Amino acid sequence: MDAVIAVLPGDGIGPEVTHCARNVLSAIAEKYQHNFSFREELIGGVAMEASGEPLPAATIDCCKSSDAVLLGAVGGSKWSDPNAKVRPEQGLLKLRSELEVYANLRPVKIYDELAGTSPLKADVLVGVDMLIVRELTGGIYFGEKTRDATSASDLCTYHTHEIERVVRVAAKLAGARRKKLCSIDKANVLETSRLWRDVTDRLMQQEFADIELETLLVDAAAMHLLSRPADFDVLVTENMFGDILTDEASMLAGSLGMLPSASIGDSTRGLYEPIHGSAPDIAGQGIANPCAAIASAALLLRHSLGLTREAAAVEAAIGDAIAAGARTADIATPNDTTVSTQQMSEEIMRCLN
Ligand code: IPM
Ligand code: MN
Repeated sequence: MDAVIAVLPGDGIGPEVTHCARNVLSAIAEKYQHNFSFREELIGGVAMEASGEPLPAATIDCCKSSDAVLLGAVGGSKWSDPNAKVRPEQGLLKLRSELEVYANLRPVKIYDELAGTSPLKADVLVGVDMLIVRELTGGIYFGEKTRDATSASDLCTYHTHEIERVVRVAAKLAGARRKKLCSIDKANVLETSRLWRDVTDRLMQQEFADIELETLLVDAAAMHLLSRPADFDVLVTENMFGDILTDEASMLAGSLGMLPSASIGDSTRGLYEPIHGSAPDIAGQGIANPCAAIASAALLLRHSLGLTREAAAVEAAIGDAIAAGARTADIATPNDTTVSTQQMSEEIMRCLN
């Protein structure tokens, strides 16, 4: 097939890991005889340096005229002054909103060989295989913000249709898995959560009666994710809760460097990015873990291009490289020899062929 893929490397380790993911996509194109063309554009801090804007119009146009978008990371200490008016993160939020990718899929899969890397006991991790669906274009991230000398506010708003569409995505995915959905809110305190719970209960009864629905308050969910992670199948939650819980859940997999994400909406065009940030502390050293970015490329193949077999091949290659002992520093235990970003990705490509 022919596909146009927009590549937005961004800041920090973003360029290093997207470079690897792009190479893997090229290897897939060659092996399965597809024709992928890549178009690189600026986002985040590097875009601000070039044009003053974290999401230039050319980047938006490029993404909108592509079949899928592969993104690295945005942000860095250089741009994190709390009084700055323009920030790299605004570019990412605007992109998510422009592309209308309201459902952010963050699968948490555990590789047996990495159980020793997680701070949790190995027996708690047995059978962990969950998918967290985070609402991505609403809530407190996008509400009105105010700030004066002595006060500040962030408004959190949700509309029924925003809740329905993301819960539908999550419930459909649950239908193809273990048929369990856990909805997470803070309905004992927040009005938006009470709406979330009402809408979810009704929708699930009307459209997904065959899926088991569990409801948890977010504070309890944070605990249950660590005490009984294997019980969860698909989880769905609002934007900020999803941001926080997925960083927590990454510790089940051992490292933030392992978790990919797919942001999808009503069209097939999606945005694919590792859940880790720009990691300025290790940027430019060639030691970042490319697995999350490469696994994000696998999600791109599956969700935007419909290339199921190719996606599975990339995921299997990551698993094989790990089984063969390849370890970047973040997933190494004290006796392991560590490999560089480039070596890790070469090992994954070797396993592909
Ligand atoms: C993420 C990141 C972003 C978010 C930041 C960089 C704006 O933490 O994708 O999880 O909060 O959504
Ligand atoms: Mn985050």
